[in-house]
Amino acid sequence: MRVLSGIQPTGRFHWGNYFGAIRQYIELQDADQAFYFIANLHALTTVRDPEQLCQLTFDAAVDLLALGLDPERAVLFIQSHVPEVSELCWLLMTVTPMGLLERCHAYKDKKARGLSADAGLFTYPVLMAADILAYDSDVVPVGEDQIQHIEVCRDLAAKFNHLFGETFVMPRAKLLDASAKVPGIDGEKMSKSYNNTIELFEPPKSMRKKIMRIKTDSRPMEEPKEPETDHLYQLYSLFANETEREEMAALYRRGGFGYGEVKKALAEKAEAFFAEPRQRREELVAHPERVWEVLHEGARRAREKASEVLQRAQEACGVFCQRR
Ligand code: TYM
Repeated sequence: MRVLSGIQPTGRFHWGNYFGAIRQYIELQDADQAFYFIANLHALTTVRDPEQLCQLTFDAAVDLLALGLDPERAVLFIQSHVPEVSELCWLLMTVTPMGLLERCHAYKDKKARGLSADAGLFTYPVLMAADILAYDSDVVPVGEDQIQHIEVCRDLAAKFNHLFGETFVMPRAKLLDASAKVPGIDGEKMSKSYNNTIELFEPPKSMRKKIMRIKTDSRPMEEPKEPETDHLYQLYSLFANETEREEMAALYRRGGFGYGEVKKALAEKAEAFFAEPRQRREELVAHPERVWEVLHEGARRAREKASEVLQRAQEACGVFCQRR
């Protein structure tokens, strides 16, 4: 089984990224092969400051390593270091119906807000399909918001295979039921673009402040509450073990508690949870050369696989054209 996933360096990672995706990367790194990359080409559709993009890309690598991604077991690299993917993207573009991309949410949402989208955003799912297909990926661990893109990838792979013969492996998405859609501090999906995130490596004081700002309803303390539909409870559950979850759920159902108590418990858990990675992060930041070494070796291994798949696709569609 080959696992692959990518994450954009558009800002520092947040709880949604971790519990929806990064945790799965780490759990799955013992697959036959696991490829994880920092999607800086995708990020280019939003980050326009070159210094900042480069810094965010490096920070993303540091964060992933600090969180437990092990370069001995998984291949970690930067998307733009594998140019084969951009070439594969073009081949896929030639079999992509416009209508398919018009239905994709990132583009649709931007248009609905009256903003003008560029071709990069419009064709974003095709690059993502190339990312996935370039490594013969079987399994793609992601959060719920990426499901549509993986469906597009499957459609394009099927179309290419139909036109030119079996070329690509058909990938499938892998979601974690309990955290496929982590809520933000306002109860909507946690997302950088909604400005409702709590970052993984936020200084403890500002993390606490944000937790205290998590939106709650104004029902009286005595009133029993349903835990499952409460986003504060959902966030607490991410960090709690089963017994703690049940105890908290019982407290909700009984009533007579304040949301402030839950927030305090959540802040303590979150702080403890990220304490070790926070320390590992500091060690890595002190040795950037080690991080770059991992990324260069990762790119070398990723290119090896991607060039094999690109050639297979080029041969299939007739552009690997050489004197016979
Ligand atoms: P990105 O960078 O927006 O998000 C990275 C991962 O985090 C997950 N995620 C969440 N999961 C649960 N709850 C949330 N609130 C939440 N917010 C984010 C996302 O689902 C994702 O798995 N297009 C991708 C990057 C990409 C990619 C790929 C992914 C490029 N090529 C190939 C997989 C395969 C993206 O923008 O993810």
